[in-house]
Amino acid sequence: MHTRTLGQDLEVSAIGLGCMGMSQSYGPNPGDRDDMIGVLRGAVDRGITFFDTAEVYGPYVNEELVGEALASVRDQVVFATKFGWRIENSKSVGLDSRPEQIKHVADASLRRLRTDTIDLFYQHRVDPDVPIEDVAGTVGELVQAGKVRHFGLSEAGAATIRRAHAVHPVTAVQSEYSLWTRDPEPEVLPTLAELGIGFVPFSPLGKGFLTGTVDTTTAFTAGDIRTTIPRFKQDNLAANQTLVDHVATLAHTKNATPGQVALAWLLAQHPSIVPIPGTRRIARVEENAAATQLALSADERTGLDALAALVGVHGDRYNEMHMSLVDK
Ligand SMILES: NC(=O)c1ccc[n+]([C@@H]2O[C@H](COP(=O)([O-])OP(=O)(O)OC[C@H]3O[C@@H](n4cnc5c(N)ncnc54)[C@H](OP(=O)(O)O)[C@@H]3O)[C@@H](O)[C@H]2O)c1
Repeated sequence: MHTRTLGQDLEVSAIGLGCMGMSQSYGPNPGDRDDMIGVLRGAVDRGITFFDTAEVYGPYVNEELVGEALASVRDQVVFATKFGWRIENSKSVGLDSRPEQIKHVADASLRRLRTDTIDLFYQHRVDPDVPIEDVAGTVGELVQAGKVRHFGLSEAGAATIRRAHAVHPVTAVQSEYSLWTRDPEPEVLPTLAELGIGFVPFSPLGKGFLTGTVDTTTAFTAGDIRTTIPRFKQDNLAANQTLVDHVATLAHTKNATPGQVALAWLLAQHPSIVPIPGTRRIARVEENAAATQLALSADERTGLDALAALVGVHGDRYNEMHMSLVDK
């Protein structure tokens, strides 16, 4: 697979692998832990070098899984992980980006990932109680100490990105972005282009919706995050179906899958965009990776944009509590 560059010099495969679902958020896992190790190693065999995890996924067990699975190929892969939560009794109970907490998480993540440096260390959510300058300065100290290579932010607004970047260069911002989530377009993406910062869209497949495999008949199990998300409620799902039907029709004409069209659309938005679709199945890793081979014409992209604008999206992308954590 070809590579892309985040920021000035973080080279990663053009599509990464989101590892969160292996430990939480999408209901019962189709495989056991050994199977997930197989998926992670299989992804490397298929050219993926960019792996996305976080302290809070599990919590902790997702980093441990990634660290164990990829220890033998550590020099070939890029580890992105995230700090910024207060975790008590295995539950995140709020935000915590105090400098001492960031340093503590870095050391613990290094141990769990079985590595001596974190390639990309994101603040998971902007903490209103800690000035972003202090966060950037602390990550800068970790970079100086060799424990971290690159600084990232997640779900940060344009003003916060500028303030952070002025203290320590931001290599990548990770936020939700896809055909049905356009929030970063008006302000964040132009700011990143101006400052030379990479962008990593999370939930690039719309948490499965844009693959055409989720509809009003899908029964989500308890523990599946989609049971809490307004746009996955029955009436909203039905209204949102028009967009995915169009994606599927276009995919059919191109001998591709709807998910591949959704990923190819993202890749075409800007050369420093690197989507991280999440899956626990090697066949889907392969399918998603092959989206790097799919070219959409300008007319096809315009058609997708026009339809998305026409039908709109029904329902918020998160519940109220999670929406309140998004930096404006
Ligand atoms: N920074 C943040 O706050 C944040 C928030 C959310 C996510 N993330 C990161 O972003 C990554 C990706 O986001 P996400 O997992 O929420 O959403 P996503 O990648 O948009 O979608 C994942 C869902 O799509 C399914 N899927 C994947 N490939 C498929 C395919 N080819 N065909 C049909 N279904 C497919 C997966 O099911 P199976 O697993 O069963 O294949 C899963 O249900 C996460 O793993 C995580 O690393 C970050």
